[in-house]
Amino acid sequence: MTTTTGAGLKDRTVVVVGGGSGIGLAVAREALARGAEVVLAGRSRERLARALGTLGAGARARAVAADVRQEDEVMRLFREVPAADHVVATAVVPAYQPIAAFDLEAARAVVDSKLLGALLLAKHGAPRLRPGGSLTFTTGIAADRPMPRGAMIAAVNGALAAFVRAAALELAPLRVNALSPGWVDTEIWDAVAGDGKAATFAAMAERLPARRIGRPEDVAHAAAFLMENGFTTGSVLRVDGGHPLV
Ligand SMILES: NC(=O)c1ccc[n+]([C@@H]2O[C@H](COP(=O)([O-])OP(=O)(O)OC[C@H]3O[C@@H](n4cnc5c(N)ncnc54)[C@H](OP(=O)(O)O)[C@@H]3O)[C@@H](O)[C@H]2O)c1
Repeated sequence: MTTTTGAGLKDRTVVVVGGGSGIGLAVAREALARGAEVVLAGRSRERLARALGTLGAGARARAVAADVRQEDEVMRLFREVPAADHVVATAVVPAYQPIAAFDLEAARAVVDSKLLGALLLAKHGAPRLRPGGSLTFTTGIAADRPMPRGAMIAAVNGALAAFVRAAALELAPLRVNALSPGWVDTEIWDAVAGDGKAATFAAMAERLPARRIGRPEDVAHAAAFLMENGFTTGSVLRVDGGHPLV
């Protein structure tokens, strides 16, 4: 089958790793709205069940519990989903700590979930994807505009962008891209900003050219573009309200 631009997602199978919340859940919702079937993956069965409940998509959505850091669990995920069209990964085990006191296990968890997780999804997912398929990973604004305590997220986002370019070349004609969100209002911020979240967001919204903080749906819309556009590969698509400009 030729990879065509605008092939759409109708009757495609989209696996969303990290689909239990935030951006991943919005990607699942967007894919369903475009006629796809979705498989949500994440570590917590409870979170996945809650997410399925909010989607209300019946048999068109299901969940598989899997930790993307564990190779056997990624293999099991693709045994349970033996054929798919697109994989979108948003999973991260975040860690925000000062370099002087960075806990090594926490640092490794960031690398294992986001960077080695991408490797495992490419290794075991790519052979399962139908012609015209794609892999989409999630980097982030921290690669270019890091925050204090965010050194490992910055490093992993930068490395993931390099991985995407290499994988796009090696796995072609399968397409491999990344989303790079700016500040998006999800629960990941509860740990970073805590009670100061509203004030932090208000101050950033004022600075951003888009004059607002991102919504998960903004990034989901871009994910759909990367899945549907057959001529886009090796790209890192920024969805950040113009954050690098300020
Ligand atoms: N929100 C932002 O402002 C922002 C900005 C830039 C980049 N990003 C990036 O966007 C991505 C999504 O972030 P988000 O804001 O949507 O956060 P989120 O709501 O915390 O979503 C992360 C999801 O990944 C799952 N997950 C975590 N570790 C996993 C693992 N080891 N295996 C499988 N699933 C795992 C989590 O579920 P379980 O805990 O149940 O596994 C959760 O559903 C992340 O890569 C983040 O770095 C976000």
